[in-house]
Amino acid sequence: MVVWPGVRVAWHGSGLVCFRSTPHRIHPADLPVNPTTPPGPAPSAPPEIFRERRERLLARTGGAVTVLGAAPELRRSRDTDIRYRPASDLYYLTGVDEPDALAVLTPHDPAHRFTLFVRPRNPEREVWNGPRVGVEGAAERFGADAVYPIGEADERLPDLLRPADRVLLTLGLDPELDARVAELILAFRRTRQRSGVGPAVIEDAEAVLGAMRRRKDDHELERMRSAATIAVAGQRAAMRAARPGAGEWELEAAVESTFRALGAVGAAFPSIIGSGPNATVLHYTSNDRRIRDGDLVLVDAGAEWGMYASDMTRTFPANGRFSAPQRAVYDLVLAALEAGIAAAAPGAAFAGVHDAALRVLVEGMISLGVLAREDVDAALESGAYRRFYPHSTSHWLGLDVHDVGLYREGDASVLLEPGMVLTVEPGLYFPPDAADVPEAFRGIGVRLEDSIVITRAGRENLTRGLPVDPAEVEALVGDRD
Ligand code: GLY
Ligand code: MN
Ligand code: MN
Repeated sequence: MVVWPGVRVAWHGSGLVCFRSTPHRIHPADLPVNPTTPPGPAPSAPPEIFRERRERLLARTGGAVTVLGAAPELRRSRDTDIRYRPASDLYYLTGVDEPDALAVLTPHDPAHRFTLFVRPRNPEREVWNGPRVGVEGAAERFGADAVYPIGEADERLPDLLRPADRVLLTLGLDPELDARVAELILAFRRTRQRSGVGPAVIEDAEAVLGAMRRRKDDHELERMRSAATIAVAGQRAAMRAARPGAGEWELEAAVESTFRALGAVGAAFPSIIGSGPNATVLHYTSNDRRIRDGDLVLVDAGAEWGMYASDMTRTFPANGRFSAPQRAVYDLVLAALEAGIAAAAPGAAFAGVHDAALRVLVEGMISLGVLAREDVDAALESGAYRRFYPHSTSHWLGLDVHDVGLYREGDASVLLEPGMVLTVEPGLYFPPDAADVPEAFRGIGVRLEDSIVITRAGRENLTRGLPVDPAEVEALVGDRD
């Protein structure tokens, strides 16, 4: 079976296998040969996965009712919308991916725990925008106990909320929904005085959902492996497309066409393709400079596949050879990356990953002559390094690229547990106009980023399908054979 030009797939054993065949757009060596990576959009997840998560949520939330709104549709300009991205929390607990939906999770009656409101079928609108699941289809597809048209939500919400002591809501997702729930609480305030029932509190659902989403289940980890495999393929395509004279936009096209060709929805965040001095701009996204001989190119890009994000960064010389100063900075960032990854282990503190990477960077900044020659601990204490390393080393990764979940609880750093997924992304950025930095290093920016799953035995690196060893990186750049 040929699914897109140049790729053949077949069922083999229990999985789908991609074969490399004639190249078309994607270099054949860059195709994921991972039986768990379907070469196309992710299939729908079975409703049992979401049911199990809802049960876990209800076990934690006591007498609260949880209200999950859909993400609003967002306008790009005038009458054109951006491609719809479902709300992560609603998806996580229900699998619902349509706009104008509302889920209400009620713990009080075991036979009636999941009420769903959706857009009704509308043949005229469906001609323009495609099929809707509709009230009839939603019960089976999402396993809801009751489904109603979204237009009935206002009238039915009071009865659903009445038995609750509080309402959990992801605040800020949809200001209109926030206001509606606040109005309902005020209405209950008026009746509670005599009836004695009705919720009196709105609680941000992010606290409990952050704690749940911070630890990925097996289904999520499978999706994240696939998203990361696609990211690796896109990053490889960028390295192959690189040459002095190429536009940053051409590398962006190589990255994102690969993402899409492999079935990703697209980039999980705006791709960063920073060449030369642009590599020192942390969230550079205009990608409109022509790459010059002697430049480094920093590519920070990840795909979204089956709702899950990947996130990785590589930095490489456009002409395939690091200069001596570039290589010195690269080696330092690489050592910091490896130190950070080594610190990411079950039972270790999340903050320890940053501390390990930062210590290597600061020692290196002193030896490069970028920071004053002083004791490393004093240099860490002074914070002078922040000019050249202004961000932290890690964030959670999942449905959102900067995923939910606390990093600290009170005074203590969160301890890493199996199933947590975090990035490790040290960098050094020497602005072109930093007069106190040795001239050879001015305008150099390097970041390296891998995505790491904490496992019982230690860790799994999701993104090492693409090398970081400088000689291997040099060999990949511009390799169009
Ligand atoms: N791409 C954004 C980040 O690495 O956090
Ligand atoms: Mn990144
Ligand atoms: Mn990141």
